[in-house]
Amino acid sequence: MYSDTINISYFRKDAAFDTLYPQHIRELSQMHWTALDIALEASNYLASPGARVLDIGSGVGKFCIAAGVYHPNTDFFGIEQRKELFHHAQVAQEQVGADNVHFSHGNLTELDYDHYDHFYFYNSFYENIEPGSRIDYSVRTSFELYNHYTEFIHDMLSSRQAGTRLVTYHAPDKQIPASYQLVDNSYSRVLKMWVKG
Ligand SMILES: C[S@@+](CC[C@H](N)C(=O)[O-])C[C@H]1O[C@@H](n2cnc3c(N)ncnc32)[C@H](O)[C@@H]1O
Repeated sequence: MYSDTINISYFRKDAAFDTLYPQHIRELSQMHWTALDIALEASNYLASPGARVLDIGSGVGKFCIAAGVYHPNTDFFGIEQRKELFHHAQVAQEQVGADNVHFSHGNLTELDYDHYDHFYFYNSFYENIEPGSRIDYSVRTSFELYNHYTEFIHDMLSSRQAGTRLVTYHAPDKQIPASYQLVDNSYSRVLKMWVKG
């Protein structure tokens, strides 16, 4: 599963992976970053040779980096609005040496989604409606932004072609267009695999 150039000790457990980040980022891991077992399950569903998978709101890159190491023949992309988190994602990616993992800094509303085949979404907008789950104070949050981003992703997903795969983690089903069918959520009730019909 691992290429010879990857230091697999990072992938033995979450605490080991999290040493790629400074202490204040590690402390956010349990609540905000995808755990390794979830990244493995999700990426097993999303990956295929030559496919391009986007993590919508990639944080410090934990999903993309783990998924990219588990599936070296798939390219994983992340878009992240917070510059600091984007920076930590890049440093971690370089440290791990996963060449098939790519991060961008910016707002997810600015992307051209035609460049991606499949999507991963870890309830990225929740901090807009639940102040207790804020990552930090570097970006504005509001109910209006929650609705705006939710509608944007709903429309984007609706416009994808049949066969597009989507994994949601802790995301409400009402954010998913009716054109997506639930394929599997047997690993965890909050980890859902979907496909567009
Ligand atoms: C729950 S974290 C998940 C991080 C990563 N996907 C993972 O699984 O490890 C959600 C991330 O989405 C980012 N995010 C939320 N709204 C965004 C937006 N409009 N554009 C870009 N990133 C956004 C947040 O800053 C946060 O880092």
